[in-house]
Amino acid sequence: MITPQTIEQIKNRIDIIDVVGEYVKLKKRGANYLGLCPFHNEKTPSFTVSPAKELYKCFGCGKSGNTITFLMEHDKMSYVEALKWLASRYNIEVEETESTPEQKQLQLAADSLYIINNFAQKFFDEKLFLSEEGQNIALSYLKERGFREDIIKKFQIGYNPSQRDELTTALLQNQFNKELLPKTGLVVVRNETELIDNYRGRIIFPIHNNTGKIIGFGARVIGKADKAPKYINTPENEIYIKSKVLYGSYFARLAIDKANECLLVEGYTDVVSLHQAGIENVVASGGTSLTTDQLRIIKKYSNNLTIIYDGDAAGIKAALRGLDMALEEGLNVKLVLIPDKEDPDSYVNKVGATAFQDFVAKNKKDFILFQLEVMLKDAGNDVTKKSEVVNQVADTLSKISKAEDFTKLQDYIKQCSSLLKIDEGGLTNLVNKLKRDKIAKDEKKLPFEDANYNLQQSQQPEGFSDDNFLLLNQDEAHEKNVLRVLLEYGLRSWDDQKTMAQYIFEELEQFRFDNPQLESLFNEYRNWYDQGLQPDAKSFLYHPDDAVRSLVVSITVFPHELSQKWDDRLEGMNIVNRDTSHQDVLISINIFKLRKIKKMFDENQRDMENASLEEQMKLIEVHKDLKKIERELSQQLGTVIIK
Ligand code: CTP
Ligand code: MN
Repeated sequence: MITPQTIEQIKNRIDIIDVVGEYVKLKKRGANYLGLCPFHNEKTPSFTVSPAKELYKCFGCGKSGNTITFLMEHDKMSYVEALKWLASRYNIEVEETESTPEQKQLQLAADSLYIINNFAQKFFDEKLFLSEEGQNIALSYLKERGFREDIIKKFQIGYNPSQRDELTTALLQNQFNKELLPKTGLVVVRNETELIDNYRGRIIFPIHNNTGKIIGFGARVIGKADKAPKYINTPENEIYIKSKVLYGSYFARLAIDKANECLLVEGYTDVVSLHQAGIENVVASGGTSLTTDQLRIIKKYSNNLTIIYDGDAAGIKAALRGLDMALEEGLNVKLVLIPDKEDPDSYVNKVGATAFQDFVAKNKKDFILFQLEVMLKDAGNDVTKKSEVVNQVADTLSKISKAEDFTKLQDYIKQCSSLLKIDEGGLTNLVNKLKRDKIAKDEKKLPFEDANYNLQQSQQPEGFSDDNFLLLNQDEAHEKNVLRVLLEYGLRSWDDQKTMAQYIFEELEQFRFDNPQLESLFNEYRNWYDQGLQPDAKSFLYHPDDAVRSLVVSITVFPHELSQKWDDRLEGMNIVNRDTSHQDVLISINIFKLRKIKKMFDENQRDMENASLEEQMKLIEVHKDLKKIERELSQQLGTVIIK
C-alpha cells in the first residue's frame, strides 16, 4: 500500500491540464479547457477539463473523472500504476506501508502465477508457429476454421504439444516453483509425484485481465470432442476468479466505450471471429450464466448490453438467468438469437461482417418483452398460467429500481400491459406493491431499525418540517451527511480555537456510525487529519480502495438532497449568499445525534418490556435523560432552521 502521505503529496502536485494535455490537445475556454474526447470519436470538441475542480467530463460520451481515473481508463493502468507514474513524473518518492505476512504471501503467489502464465504463453506461441507438430496439426486447424494469422497473434493463441510433459520440462528447467505449478492448471500431478502437461495436444486461448495480464487459459481439443471435454479451463486460484472473468474484455474495452454497447457471446471462438470481422466490442461469458461481478465489469464500460446467443434452448435459458441481476444493475439488455444451429463464430464466417451487423441490428429484441413473449406462448389459453405470467412480469419489472430509470419502467409497464391485454393501472399497482414489499423486507433486515418510529409521538418544533423527519428515518442519509460536511468544511475554522473537523470530532466522540464503510471513512479522515495532513474530498478521490472512492463520490459530487432542501429554505430567507457552513455542520451533527438518541430510546423501551421492577426504575431514568436530550436537540434544530 502506498502511504497517505505520498498520496497527499501526489495530489498536491497533480496538474490535470498537464497530464491530460499530453493526450488531448486542449484549448482554454473561460475557466475550463476544451478538447476532442479521447474516449469516443468526435469532430467538435466536447471534452471539458476543469483545472479548479481537477476533473474532466465529456459532454458527448459522458465519461468523467480525475487525473488518476484518466490514466486508468486511457492507458489501462491500475490504480497503483497510475499513482507511481505520477510520482515519477513529479519526482516524488513513493513510500509504501509494510503489508502483513499474509498479504505478502498472497502477492508473491499472484506474481509468480503471472510470471508462469507469461512463460507458458511464449512457449505455446513458439510451439504453434515454429514446431512441426504445431504447424501441421494446430495452425492448420485454426486456418481451416478461417482464423487469420494477425488475429491469432493478437489474441496470443498457442498450442500445447501432445507429448506428455514438454511444457512441464521447460517450466522445471527454468526453476519455477514445483509446488506452485499445479495451481496454474498448466500442469497436473500424476501418480502422486509425477508432473505432466494438462493441456496436451490442445489449442490454447490465453485469458487476459483488463490490463492485459494473462490470468489463465482455455484449452480446446483439435477437431471434434468425442472422448475428452472440448475445453479445459484454468482452475480457480489467486489470480483466476471465474466469476470475474470476461474473455476478451482487454481487447474490447475501448471499442465498447466508443460504441457505447457491449456485445456478449458465449465462447472464445465467437469473440475471436467477431474481432476478425472488425466487430471489436465483444466479450464472452464462457457459456455459463452471467454473474453479478461480470455484469458490474460490463457496466463500467457501457449501460447497453446485447446478448448474442445460439437459438437453442440451453443458450436462451442461460441468457434469461442473468436478466434480473442485469436489471438491478441498471443495464439495458437486448437479446439477439442466431438462427439455424449456428453460433456467432460460424454465422459471421458464413454471412460476413456487414450481414452479421445488419442481422444483429434488425433482430435486437428487448429482453423483458422477449421473456414475456416466450412465457405467453407457453401459457397459451390457460387462465391460471396467464395470471402467473402477470405476476412474473411484475416481479421482473419491480427489479428496475434506480430512480433515473423511472421513465423506462413506465414505458415497460405500458408495453407489457398491452401485450398481456390487461389494464395499465393494475400492472402499475402490482409493481408498486412488490417494490414496497421488497423495501419493507430490506428494512426488517437492518439491526435496531426504528422503521416504525411514530412521528406524532414527539413534539414537533416549529420550522421542523416533515422533510426533516423523513431524513431522520431515512437510513444512512444522516450518517452520510456528517461525512459530507466533514469533507467539505473540515479544514475551515469553527471558531478561533478549532477547525470544523475538530469540532465534529469532539461532538461525535460518544457516537458511532452504523454503516461500517462510513465509520471507517470517518476514522481514516481523522487519522489523516491527526497526522497533520490536510484531507478533503479530493484526497479520498485518490484513495486506493475502489469502494471508498465511489463512496466519496456519492457523498460529495452529487447534489445532496438534504442540503438542497436547506438551500431552498435559506434562499427563502434571503441569506443564501452568506456562508452557511456553520449551520450546515450544526444541523448535520444534530440530526445525526438525534437519530442515534432515538435508537437508544427504542432499545431502552424494548429492554423495559422484560425488566424487573428495579431495573424498570433505572430504565425510566435513562428514558427521561434521553427525552431531555432529544428535546434539546430538536429545539436547537428548530431554531437553527428558523434563524
Ligand atoms: N465451455 C467450457 N467447457 C466445455 C465447453 C464449453 O468451458 N467443455 C465454454 C467455453 O468458454 C466455450 C463456451 O463455453 O467457448 C461455449 O461453448 P461451445 O459453444 O461448445 O464452444 P465454442 O466456443 O463455440 O467453440 P468452437 O466454436 O470451437 O466449437
Ligand atoms: Mn463455435
